[in-house]
Amino acid sequence: MRVVPGPANPALSKTLATALGTAPVRTETRRFPDGEIYARVLEPLAGDVVVVQSTPSNDDLLALLLLLDAARAHGAEHLVAVVPYYGYARQDRRFQPGEALSSDVVARAIDLYADAIVVVDPHKEAILDRFPGSAVACTAVPELAASLAADEVDLVLAPDAGARERAEAAAKAMGADVDHLEKKRIDAHTVEIAPKKMDAKGRTVAILDDMISTGGTMARATETLLKAGAKAVHCAATHGLFAAGAEARLAAAGVASVRVADTVPGPNATVSAAAAVQRGLGDVLHTVRAPQK
Ligand code: R5P
Repeated sequence: MRVVPGPANPALSKTLATALGTAPVRTETRRFPDGEIYARVLEPLAGDVVVVQSTPSNDDLLALLLLLDAARAHGAEHLVAVVPYYGYARQDRRFQPGEALSSDVVARAIDLYADAIVVVDPHKEAILDRFPGSAVACTAVPELAASLAADEVDLVLAPDAGARERAEAAAKAMGADVDHLEKKRIDAHTVEIAPKKMDAKGRTVAILDDMISTGGTMARATETLLKAGAKAVHCAATHGLFAAGAEARLAAAGVASVRVADTVPGPNATVSAAAAVQRGLGDVLHTVRAPQK
């Protein structure tokens, strides 16, 4: 299997390629003077090929599509899009009449070029149903839990009921208790965490979410827990987008640590998602190798 590294994930691609016993395929991505993106795969390909590229920005999404096209044209027989962080996943419904269904639009665009897609901890697994081809979700929660265990966390909290399943998996792996908070989103930058009866006093707590964007969710949850007497609050998520001001917001709230997986590179991306991606590839490859009807 060959690994084509997208510009958004050089480190993760390298770790994955090494784990698969290969070296990343050499590529060239750059911009034309007018800002358009140029992508080229520099080695001939054959057989199973994965393109690894998160899509936190519109340019990243376009780079993914271009690299998929380039990989296919250069010999890839079975082509898997590994999208460690799948952007536009949160607009998964038409919340108001007339809105674009963004997660669906992105899914259909990727499906035009790839035989299958692997996504790490998508915001909701239901978005994968939008792929006409094979689509598999994998999770970096075991690796995040292993990292949190070093901080002797004894209570894992999800910021809302929707994130509870991930928190339960982490708590089980760590032998910790689990609960969830009640979150209400006011706008893109503001959330409220409802006070909830729970015994956080004296405990070392981890809040586990799928992503940190503005940091509002983690910051409010941390403040609530510290007010309730928690000894320390560690924040962990699969995807660290860290919109402007997020890190300062978290520090001001008093978090003890912040850790995310390397689906989106950054200073807090200390947990590798490579093992999760390998598990996902294991689940999907047989489907793309099956003869097409
Ligand atoms: C929302 O449903 C997600 O699971 C995250 O809780 C949210 O996207 C985090 O965003 P922020 O860091 O802006 O609060």
